[in-house]
Amino acid sequence: MSTAIVILAAGKGTRMVSDLPKALHKIGHATLLEHAMRSALTVKPEKIIVVVGHQAKMVANAARKIDDAVVIAEQKEQLGTAHAVSQAEKALSGFNGDIIVLYADTPFIEPETINTIKEARKNADLVVLGFETTDPARYGRIITVEQDIRKIVEFKDASEAERKLTLCNSGVLAGAASLIFSLIGQIKNENAASEYYLTDCIELAKAQGKSAIVVRCSEEETLGINSRQDLALAEAEFQKKARKNHTQNGVTLLAPETVFFALDTEIGPDTIVEQNVVFGPDVTISSGAKIKSFSHLEGAHVSEGAIVGPFARLRPGSEIGAKARVGNFVEVKKAVIGDNSKINHLSYIGDATIGTETNIGAGSVTCNYDGVMKHQTTIGDGAFIGSNTMMVAPITIGKDAMTASGSVITKDVPEAALALGRGTQENKPRLARKLMKMLKQRKQKKDIG
Ligand code: UD1
Ligand code: CA
Repeated sequence: MSTAIVILAAGKGTRMVSDLPKALHKIGHATLLEHAMRSALTVKPEKIIVVVGHQAKMVANAARKIDDAVVIAEQKEQLGTAHAVSQAEKALSGFNGDIIVLYADTPFIEPETINTIKEARKNADLVVLGFETTDPARYGRIITVEQDIRKIVEFKDASEAERKLTLCNSGVLAGAASLIFSLIGQIKNENAASEYYLTDCIELAKAQGKSAIVVRCSEEETLGINSRQDLALAEAEFQKKARKNHTQNGVTLLAPETVFFALDTEIGPDTIVEQNVVFGPDVTISSGAKIKSFSHLEGAHVSEGAIVGPFARLRPGSEIGAKARVGNFVEVKKAVIGDNSKINHLSYIGDATIGTETNIGAGSVTCNYDGVMKHQTTIGDGAFIGSNTMMVAPITIGKDAMTASGSVITKDVPEAALALGRGTQENKPRLARKLMKMLKQRKQKKDIG
């Protein structure tokens, strides 16, 4: 049976109190929409249709960035979830498989659960994903009589008795496209919200003698995000899951609860991550690396056996070679650091290519910005950069070259040359003692006077 997945992302998300559409708020540095789309993509549906409405262009662009084959359907007015699904009908003309509806604001539905729903469809015309919770809050309640599902009642429309029920609707619904669209055609908006509720499909289907069943999943999976409070809870839930996944993949986390991941963080086995490390988006770490405490990484790749931190900052475009070392208070941006090279203390390396086996002394800086443009620094294999060297880019320092500590390097340094770019030192015999005496006398006079 072929499947199309329809993801609803047209809502404004009023309770978020935000200029940003709800679907574009982020968890683990990825939008809610991306979480939902990634789950959908994993089960390889025939088509993914994203229904956009509020800030349609912005949401559509975000969707296309995740998957350029995505089909966008626009819901001009947000008249309810059933109305939203009906916007996908045109995009599905001639399609006679199943549709599965997901909500962008319910981003944690696992691909395995979607597969379970697909399986369950063999036994019923409609499948609803439900969950048991001790705190049903404002979720729609699934009304069952023994094993039989009768209808779904929205919180706003529920009676006191119905509100006491704890089996809730996740929003995920599956059925033949033809059936769902024909049921939607009959849905009315005579309810507390004056909206066309997708959930009304169930009661209408039952009235036509169709069958419906509930597949259950855990509450964590169906977390619906309607407010910043929900978003914070979901972030915590995501981090818990990510920590578990990474440890299962062979990563040691010394204090898991202090390490924060992005959805796309990839870490190879036998890497050790110490306390208080933050992974921003687009970070990949090979195996056997060590990320020491208080490091912050984004857009970076760390190769095998490299050691980063403590207190290191890797910004986008950082490429750290095998067994290289980036130590405390070192910032790297758009720079390739060759294998076995060391930048151990207090340096800024930006817009640079650094060879293998180099040593960048403490406090060295690639002066990459002239106030208008960025310039490149190139350092050859085996070079030794003395402490506190200012490399004024564009500049090239050759293979096996050295710079003297405290140098300001403004001219290229040839291979194997030593560059001295600082004032020459002069020693004045005994002048220090004399000077000190003079200063003390001056102070004494001032104190008396
Ligand atoms: C919905 C369900 C409720 C369920 C809950 C789970 C309905 C009527 N209610 O309620 O039973 O317990 O989700 O989280 O379906 N959307 C559109 N266009 C619209 C309206 C909504 O695209 O016109 C999208 C929203 O962007 C959102 C999703 O549909 O991603 C759900 O809408 P929302 O208004 O949040 O529904 P809930 O009140 O949470
Ligand atoms: Ca919701």
